[in-house]
Amino acid sequence: MASVLHPDISCAMIRRKRRKHREDEGFRMKTKVVRIEDRYHIKDWELLEAAQILQSGGLVGFPTETVYGLGANALNPEAAKKIYGAKGRPSDNPLIAHISCMEELMPLVTEVTEAGRKLAEAFWPGPLTLVFPKSEAVPYETTGGLETVAVRMPADPVANRLIALSGVPVAAPSANTSGKPSPTTAQHVLRDMDGKIEMIIDGGAVGIGVESTIVDVSGEQAILLRPGAITVQMVEEVVGPVGIDPAILGPLSEGERPRAPGMKYRHYAPQAELILVEGELEQVVARINFLTRERLGQKYQVGIICTEETRMRYPHGIVRSVGIRAQEETIAHNLFAVLREFDDLDVDYIYSESFSSDHLGQAIMNRLTKAAGYHIIKV
Ligand code: TXA
Ligand code: MG
Repeated sequence: MASVLHPDISCAMIRRKRRKHREDEGFRMKTKVVRIEDRYHIKDWELLEAAQILQSGGLVGFPTETVYGLGANALNPEAAKKIYGAKGRPSDNPLIAHISCMEELMPLVTEVTEAGRKLAEAFWPGPLTLVFPKSEAVPYETTGGLETVAVRMPADPVANRLIALSGVPVAAPSANTSGKPSPTTAQHVLRDMDGKIEMIIDGGAVGIGVESTIVDVSGEQAILLRPGAITVQMVEEVVGPVGIDPAILGPLSEGERPRAPGMKYRHYAPQAELILVEGELEQVVARINFLTRERLGQKYQVGIICTEETRMRYPHGIVRSVGIRAQEETIAHNLFAVLREFDDLDVDYIYSESFSSDHLGQAIMNRLTKAAGYHIIKV
């Protein structure tokens, strides 16, 4: 599994490393890190300062059950703009508005379709984002110019309480620099956002590890825009057959546009060249070992992404297990942390085993193939 440094030690190391870079970029804010002792017994006073920052137009990194989010007041155009600045994110890529309870949905939308209502009832609070026609209250800065708004009600107790205390819907993309793997710990957020945002709430490692499922329920048929922990099968059990946005399945051809604008960018990408090896497991192991030896011979640093079942089969390279094949949730949980660890280790090439794309595997393989820029070797 991914090694995790002691939070205090890693925060200090990251701060030193990042200070110079931050000053070069012109960001000089002091980022305060607030540790939550017990996420299941939060005291409101632990979150009050963060809630005030959100109310007054500032930025706060906070945990959700999927990945860490970078929060701002979703109804404040200037605050939404700050998110794009801190992430270095293109401003046509819309943000998800996070709410804490059902009553907070209605002011944001003009209509809740039957599919939207059923899915919200079935999966909220939880790792599902629903796209509705937007109301006038939601500024175009939040929706990237779209007439629709994406809304999610997180189940994580820290996220949910923070939103409730702030009294506003909270626009929150994943709290990473645009294009990097999403953060699953507060240390990841600090690494990308130190000096650029007012505060980070450290609630420990997230549970799921990949971003929410997105379903567009603004039209006649529900359409899956991004796979996540709420699987297609789970969505279809509630609303019947759903459409699948082609951007999920593979690279789009020229002129095609994904319905979730964010899906068009190269996402989740580590610095190294990531190559997926797909096929029968024995042959995958043999090919990764062959490629690793070849690159090591050329004096490159090589990382290998494998699972508990195969970790002992790789004698060379820096080997990281992401989890157990039969328990997909372990792989989702560790994937982004391992990609970030390889960034820290400055490897040149990463060879990864590939995984089943059933159920949660669809989200895992969607993130992994995008991170690899669809560079897949079939054996
Ligand atoms: O799990 C999550 O959803 C995390 C946590 C923090 O809640 N957030 C997250 O946000 O992943 P972000 O910004 O990294 O990804 C949001 C995705 C992007 O691909 C964006 O294009 C899409 O949602 N999106 C947002 N609003 C949309 C809309 N109105 N129509 C279609 N896609 C939309
Ligand atoms: Mg993101």
